[in-house]
Amino acid sequence: MEFRSGYATRQQQIVELFIETFSASEGADEGRLIGDFVRNLMETTPDEELFVWSAYENDALLGCIFLSRLTYDHDDRTVFILSPVAVKTDRQKTGIGQHLILHGLDHLRKAGVDFVVTYGDPNYYSKTGFHQISEEFAQAPLKLSFPDGWLGQSLTNHDERSLIGASRCVPALNNQELW
Ligand SMILES: CC(C)(COP(=O)(O)OP(=O)(O)OC[C@H]1O[C@@H](n2cnc3c(N)ncnc32)[C@H](O)[C@@H]1OP(=O)(O)O)[C@@H](O)C(=O)NCCC(=O)NCCS
Repeated sequence: MEFRSGYATRQQQIVELFIETFSASEGADEGRLIGDFVRNLMETTPDEELFVWSAYENDALLGCIFLSRLTYDHDDRTVFILSPVAVKTDRQKTGIGQHLILHGLDHLRKAGVDFVVTYGDPNYYSKTGFHQISEEFAQAPLKLSFPDGWLGQSLTNHDERSLIGASRCVPALNNQELW
């Protein structure tokens, strides 16, 4: 398995992976919602605010993660959000998701990113270092329908100070249906 960054020439393949994976796990409506979300992320997010990592085996796409910028107006630390993540249905539970996430986090750390958040199942994301955070600790950019799924981790040694002020996400994430 190898990890590839970016999405040039692979945009449609990535969108299809997310539609298929989320349709299988959560139904066709969710598949369409997440497919539109990742297409929008790739089409509208400035390059410096988006990292995309994919796992490949012999040119077959097995999984993909998106990391986009979250801006805290009164905090000069750099924050990214991991969302969404998909692993091909017939290859799930073989470690690909965790490998991809750890690879993406390592890249963020090397790029000087200070803190990363995500929004999902705490049981799954705790396997890659995330822990639950409150909205007093870090405000979410939109209203959380599932506050228990608001998770984060510091990428710089032991800096667990709360993030100050209101936050803004990239335009593709600025959709209440995703929160
Ligand atoms: C969630 C997902 C990304 C996990 O990737 P994966 O490659 O299957 O997971 P891994 O092999 O890295 O990790 C497997 C472990 O996580 C657990 N796990 C997998 N999916 C889980 C989920 N949705 N909730 C809780 N735990 C989960 C497994 O039980 C397993 O636990 P174990 O190591 O204790 O046995 C993948 O299953 C997927 O694409 N699901 C559909 C889309 C989705 O829900 N994406 C996440 C929200 S953005």
